[in-house]
Amino acid sequence: MAAPALPVAPPVPAHAPLVLATRRRSPPSASDPPRRPRAGPLVRATSVAAAESGWAPGSWRSRPVRQIPEYPDAAALEEAERVLASFPPLVFAGEARMLEERLGDAAVGRAFLLQGGDCAESFKEFGANNIRDTFRLMLQMAVVLTFGGQMPTIKVGRMAGQFAKPRSNPVETIDGVTLPSYQGDIINNDAFDEKSRAPDPQRLIRAYSQSASTLNLLRGFAHGGYADLQRVTQWNLDFLRHSLQGERYVELAQRVQDAIGFMFAAGLPRQHPMMTTAEFWTSHECLHLPYEQALTREDSISGLYYDCSAHMLWVGERTRQLDGAHVEFLRGISNPLGVKVSDKLEPSELVELCEILNPHNKPGRLTLITRMGAENMRVKLPHMIRAVRQAGIIVTWVSDPMHGNTISAPCGLKTRSFDAIRAELRAFFDVHEQEGSYPGGVHLEMTGQNVTECIGGSNTVTFDDLSSRYRTHCDPRLNASQSLELAFAIAERLRNKRDRTWNSLISRVEA
Ligand code: PEP
Ligand code: CO
Repeated sequence: MAAPALPVAPPVPAHAPLVLATRRRSPPSASDPPRRPRAGPLVRATSVAAAESGWAPGSWRSRPVRQIPEYPDAAALEEAERVLASFPPLVFAGEARMLEERLGDAAVGRAFLLQGGDCAESFKEFGANNIRDTFRLMLQMAVVLTFGGQMPTIKVGRMAGQFAKPRSNPVETIDGVTLPSYQGDIINNDAFDEKSRAPDPQRLIRAYSQSASTLNLLRGFAHGGYADLQRVTQWNLDFLRHSLQGERYVELAQRVQDAIGFMFAAGLPRQHPMMTTAEFWTSHECLHLPYEQALTREDSISGLYYDCSAHMLWVGERTRQLDGAHVEFLRGISNPLGVKVSDKLEPSELVELCEILNPHNKPGRLTLITRMGAENMRVKLPHMIRAVRQAGIIVTWVSDPMHGNTISAPCGLKTRSFDAIRAELRAFFDVHEQEGSYPGGVHLEMTGQNVTECIGGSNTVTFDDLSSRYRTHCDPRLNASQSLELAFAIAERLRNKRDRTWNSLISRVEA
């Protein structure tokens, strides 16, 4: 592959003060983005169009902004942004474009997205073993999904940048003491004292450096031999070896190995990159806009702006206001984008959001990540799918079965039940089947570690087990066994869908 051209860093614009968020949604102004034209070449550049409608990397600063704290030392924050803007990009525009193409396949049922990783990466849990184990688990899950669905699995980590966390409550009170909430390691520290909770701009630099190291290792794993499909039977994690899910995996891996043997015998070269390397992309919530702006670069080949902190960025449930700073920033960058969608989003507002973020209706540009619990999903998702379809908008529908299913355990820890997660996924597949749309992927909070954060699963974790290995810095994650079990369940749905498609094709040919 030719070396990608390095993007150019734009100057960091002078700081305008952040506009504090208001609850009211103001009416659209003249500078708002234009509505999506119904026709026209799809290739028209997203961020060129955005620039024409008043977008610039810093235009979000004049919009109401939520979830970004006020820094006690504004000059120190500016300095950190200047330093970041002088650093190399973490990803390249061409890579983000390739991912967009893959996600366009998932929009029409020709691929399936597996997006997963920590709720929040942390400075403390940073290490090669954690990165390797999550990467290895995603490879295993991808084998299971690819085998079941007989289509490519697009692997996207919530990794190498997933540091900033939105909070429902900006403050936390313990024993009568009230302090700012922990907002992720890129902002403050979760220890409950005044110094730890103060936002520290130096954390932006540390988050960048940790992301660069993580990405470096991921690239090494993906291209340096670790992900070679001939090693498929070796990807099982040690603690899974004698478990039900581990044994199911070994059985499947053996069948894959036989199939590979057949392909080699039929003439496929052993060193074919399809066999020896894996495609792996990174993503995180686009929350800390000063950081994201500082890593935004103009691509010298296309003239488009890319946020080079990750291949894919998504806007969270708490910051997706149509006139808000986060949507303003995202509409102008050309990376593939995700939008978290809860039951609170009206179908008409969802359509407006899609039109702002994808004015040229480019396949793969927009992934709608639904997260609302199984019951809401069955009631609300059909209306959303119909509204989007009626507006002629192309999206990739994905299920995040985690964030609509968070509960408090009797011991006070946050947890999620494996059954509730599975039920939401079942609802997601059922609704898409009923509406004739494509279930394009899954978005999971998961880890390759043997943690006890979510209850249930075949290797049952109970409420009483939670405290033994509860290590998350934010929301509870599926452990390796639970993740693999979920992959098998999804693969079965994909296989059923595939069988039905084949059967109907055959009966049409025979008729
Ligand atoms: C998350 O993905 O960690 C998250 C906070 O999700 P949401 O915005 O959907 O609540
Ligand atoms: Co979360």
